Amino acid sequence: MNKPLILIADDDATIRLVLEKKLNKDGYNTKSTGSGKQLLNWVENGEGDLVITDVVMEDANGIDLIPIMHKYNQQLPIICMSGLNTIKTAIDANNKGAYEYFPKPFDLDNVSNVVKKALTSEPKNLDTSEKTQSFEDDLPMIGRSAAMQEVYRVLAKVVSTDLTVMVRGESGTGKELVARALHDYSKRKDKPFIAINMAAIPRELIESELFGYEKGAFTGADNSSKGKFEQANGGTLFLDEIGDMPVEAQTRLLRVLQDGCFTSIGGKKIIYTDVRIVTATHRSLSTMINEGLFREDLYYRLNVVPIHMPPLRDRAEDIPLLVNHFLNKYMEEGKDSKAISKEALEKMKEYNWPGNVRELENLIMRINALTPEDEIDLNTIDNHLSKLETVVKISDAVSLGASVEKHLKQYFDSHKNSLPATGLYDRIIREVERPLIIKTLDLVRGNQLKAAELLGINRNTLRKKIIYLDIQLTKTDKDQSL
Ligand SMILES: Nc1ncnc2c1ncn2[C@@H]1O[C@H](COP(=O)(O)OP(=O)(O)OP(=O)(O)O)[C@@H](O)[C@H]1O
Ligand SMILES: [Mg+2]
Repeated sequence: MNKPLILIADDDATIRLVLEKKLNKDGYNTKSTGSGKQLLNWVENGEGDLVITDVVMEDANGIDLIPIMHKYNQQLPIICMSGLNTIKTAIDANNKGAYEYFPKPFDLDNVSNVVKKALTSEPKNLDTSEKTQSFEDDLPMIGRSAAMQEVYRVLAKVVSTDLTVMVRGESGTGKELVARALHDYSKRKDKPFIAINMAAIPRELIESELFGYEKGAFTGADNSSKGKFEQANGGTLFLDEIGDMPVEAQTRLLRVLQDGCFTSIGGKKIIYTDVRIVTATHRSLSTMINEGLFREDLYYRLNVVPIHMPPLRDRAEDIPLLVNHFLNKYMEEGKDSKAISKEALEKMKEYNWPGNVRELENLIMRINALTPEDEIDLNTIDNHLSKLETVVKISDAVSLGASVEKHLKQYFDSHKNSLPATGLYDRIIREVERPLIIKTLDLVRGNQLKAAELLGINRNTLRKKIIYLDIQLTKTDKDQSL
């Protein structure tokens, strides 16, 4: 059998060489060129079983070549590689019919695996009629880090499908932005995008908000009302903070996903709905499943395509791009906009950004408004960041109360209509007291005198508590005890 022939086009001679060497080793024939026109000539002459092409070449754009090559050979698998690395290149390549898209730098083994898969699998359906979109508008998402590349790659694969997507990530990482991009680049883009935040609506209203209600369905329902599911018909429904959805509403949602239809609250008529569902959460749903707070079957229905948004601190190389993006945005809005020094940007890369891109955006907006000079310099950034760090420390302290409250809410909710066992006060206090004493003992290396002093309690009280709370003392703790 003849070896398959792979055509490679890339401006960069080193990349051509490396690819040819690897693919020859893996048993393929290769031919390579730095010219897009040459590549087209070969395909026009009926050559090649697969194409690997760069996007930006001197005489052509690889993505634009895809539909032309497919005119000559409809089944030809085309792999695109790009150093341009924006969400547009990823989606554009996919929409124009690329078999796969690789941001540069790429992993050679990965490329070879995809080549093998493309040559052995069934040809893809290359109908691009409905999907093709031009991208004249601005980029919706900024970032060229490897972590964001992965997000774009997955996004590009699923924009033209109706698959249910679950976006996870810390607060401010861009989860809603992903949901919007999924809608805006899809064939549903001219239909409504409806977002509903489970954490922002009173629990008892969530079902009627989602599914609508009939007149008289409950006290206060003076008129019937359409729910978000019906409003989003033909478009996308974004269920934000899905972890906050009450269990009863989860059951109803599951039924809608299974049947594709529902009835409104108090209504009998069956309403059919065609919506693409995107959900987002910053919570660990697996922990919630273990605690009985989230339905496992619903989770699997929603988590068909997971997208994980990286925290900003893990993609610090994107910070200069983001900062400039926000500064440009203010300028376009007609606001006075500053430049920023290199040192200032470097400093920003070192900060932890607990509030992620939202925090960065707010900071830039504040500094831009408050700085009288034309350039934002290291000193200014230093001042603002050190203030932010103090706020973070205080808000950490505050968040103990907030997390206890959250924990208690989940605990009570999990009992639904029944009450927890009696003795609640002691049980809860014990849960706080025990780690407090253990950590304090750790801090003073087991010295109980110091621990009692630090805690502000009597030595004997501490000793009694150690016994009552069943705290195991380590050897040093015992040595140091009085
Ligand atoms: N990659 C990005 N490029 C440009 N802007 C971004 C990016 N990521 C986030 N933003 C901006 O940061 C802000 C927060 O983003 P978004 O609301 O999507 O975050 P989120 O993950 O939904 O946060 P939360 O969990 O708090 O709801 C928005 O103003 C958004 O435009
Ligand atoms: Mg959000």
